[in-house]
Amino acid sequence: MMEEKEKPQIVEESIWIAGEAIKKAPRLQGVPTGVEGLDDLFFVAELVDGKIIKKPLGGIPAYSVTNITGVSDTGKSLMVEQYAVMQASRGEGVAFITVESPAPFVTVGLRERAKAMGIDWDSIQDRIVLIDAASHGRLRENLPDLFATLAYAIKTYKVRHTIIDSVTGLYEAKEMMARTIVRQLFNFMKKWYQTALFVSQKRSGHEELTAEAAGGYAVSHIVDCSIVLSKELILTQTQARIYKKQIGDVVRLFRIDGCRMCGHDTRTHFMEITELGLVKIGPPITGG
Ligand SMILES: Nc1ncnc2c1ncn2[C@@H]1O[C@H](COP(=O)(O)OP(=O)(O)O)[C@@H](O)[C@H]1O
Ligand SMILES: [Mg+2]
Repeated sequence: MMEEKEKPQIVEESIWIAGEAIKKAPRLQGVPTGVEGLDDLFFVAELVDGKIIKKPLGGIPAYSVTNITGVSDTGKSLMVEQYAVMQASRGEGVAFITVESPAPFVTVGLRERAKAMGIDWDSIQDRIVLIDAASHGRLRENLPDLFATLAYAIKTYKVRHTIIDSVTGLYEAKEMMARTIVRQLFNFMKKWYQTALFVSQKRSGHEELTAEAAGGYAVSHIVDCSIVLSKELILTQTQARIYKKQIGDVVRLFRIDGCRMCGHDTRTHFMEITELGLVKIGPPITGG
């Protein structure tokens, strides 16, 4: 005999009339990132004199969740540090969840980034709140604790931007949980109207700069935007020609792998890390 199943229920609050839903949607606008060359790579369509034109958004879309992925030493941490410093200098509160490096170390990095960007540290230091999940295993192992801590920080410090460096550290040794964990983090960011940057580490085995590269474990399907960073050692004449470099040089590359909130540049760009430790996006690679 068949087991009696629970009667299907209508989840009425899940149903929206589009005209009502649009009223709850945030306005599409850009958040300047503090990364030179990046802000002009996101677009919106605008109607001017009956013609559709492409207008730069001037940053990443507000209230988006962006995944920044790459193998180690590709500039992910520098990039999110620049973003944090930039938001604080715009007068906005930032939560920086550090999963790999204890808070004091990250703070030194943030201060160095501010110095290199010409931003006065004293005027921004109280707008950045660090949550040290590197030193507190509870925050890494128990998501509800992390969420309670972050919600408290958001309320107390008027936080509008959340950075997690890295989300990979939250599913160490339980990679089959990656999607579930990232999904919960994503939902949290939406609920609290955060513009969020998630760093995720890519194993070198994943294809460089491809869709699969964007975080592996299908993390890219959950977030709004994916950015892929890579570095390549020039070993052949073909590479040397394409990248206009010498054999033995290292070339850094950048690509927006996808963004479902707005239009974006789809080309692979050169990327540079300056001597002061600032990430800059360069011109796109052109044919060899
Ligand atoms: N303060 C700095 N000054 C100059 N270069 C730096 C500085 N910090 C990091 N770099 C360079 O940038 C690279 C990328 O750093 P990082 O953002 O920490 O990488 P990731 O987070 O992707 O592992 C480093 O390997 C180093 O070459
Ligand atoms: Mg890092």
